[in-house]
Amino acid sequence: MMNVEQAITIERLIEKSDAGEPFLLLDVRNGDEYEAWKVEGRRPIETLHIPYFDFVEEPELVSQVPSDGRETLVICAKGGSSEFVADLLREAGVNAKNVEGGMIAYGDYLQPVRVTLDADESGRFEIWQLNRRGKGCLSYVIRCGAEAVVVDPSRRIGEYERFVERLGARIVWVFDTHVHADHISGGPELARLSGASYFVGGDELKQAVTPVRDGAEIRLSDDSSKTLAIRVVVTPGHTPGSTSFLVGRRHLLTGDTIFVSGIGRPDLGGHVVEWSRDLYRTLHERIAALPDDVVILPAHYSDVSEIRDDGVVAGLLGEIRRNVPELQIRSEAEFVEVMKSALSTPPETYAKIIAINLGASQVDAEEATEWELGKNQCAASRH
Ligand SMILES: [Fe+2]
Repeated sequence: MMNVEQAITIERLIEKSDAGEPFLLLDVRNGDEYEAWKVEGRRPIETLHIPYFDFVEEPELVSQVPSDGRETLVICAKGGSSEFVADLLREAGVNAKNVEGGMIAYGDYLQPVRVTLDADESGRFEIWQLNRRGKGCLSYVIRCGAEAVVVDPSRRIGEYERFVERLGARIVWVFDTHVHADHISGGPELARLSGASYFVGGDELKQAVTPVRDGAEIRLSDDSSKTLAIRVVVTPGHTPGSTSFLVGRRHLLTGDTIFVSGIGRPDLGGHVVEWSRDLYRTLHERIAALPDDVVILPAHYSDVSEIRDDGVVAGLLGEIRRNVPELQIRSEAEFVEVMKSALSTPPETYAKIIAINLGASQVDAEEATEWELGKNQCAASRH
């Protein structure tokens, strides 16, 4: 059994970095793994990279790690090699702790943050944004009284079950805003285990969903006459079945249609021209019709700088309209060209993840973890 003082959870590491507490992060993964994906805090993290194998071959490398009394947090892929290095460092007098679970734990960790609502709505319902910090994925729990809706859950569904239980509610609906390409959805399984209805939009689905139509209102209520309407707004483009959800008066869960600082890439199904046209129409007809004070709550972000001071990733539609260049393009043909040129090759695993999320194939947990490594690449542009 590991001594707790010799280890630290990823949750605590992120808390420390967000709070600006001083520590050194020692990353002992191989160079390529390190280059591809790093721990990001809301403030810069001072990081030293010395691979585990270098420590094995040359244990005297410990002298390169400063022993100035600061905590040195050692991280690797899964938490095993880093434990070895942390032991070596402690023997050399360094205040070292192992980061439990390593980058895998970082990739799975969900940070719940409550979205502040207007006074007239805050007594009636709650919106929680569950930020998967390691991947830049956002899922949501919406609660009104004893009923809850979960949107875009990741595959660790136990986290959502426990979270909703702690809120004193039960899950009545699970939505996926679209067939995700970057992560495996926990939606169908969470709905099945909770006895909730499940919806995701798409023509190629191989699994049963409870259909919802454009403009429909899903109502949550409790016994004390509080109610909440969630309106379905179909927003094709990122995928043909992409669906947004307007929660209460002005909080729009947009999936990958529109982000705080960009828009979703329309090429992940291999139909970039057709889907770009859909996206253009969605942005100029559906989204354009909404008022400036609508709060956009997306499914992803590209950079930690998009996390606001209150910890929430959100933006006012009016500001996003002004700041995102793709939203200022006024011709469909030009938009299609910009989309075609803005895109990079998606990771190879995305096609496999899409097949899982369509219900067309299955995957074991270990393989799924491997496929999901790294940050999302769902945006069409990075500013
Ligand atoms: Fe997506």
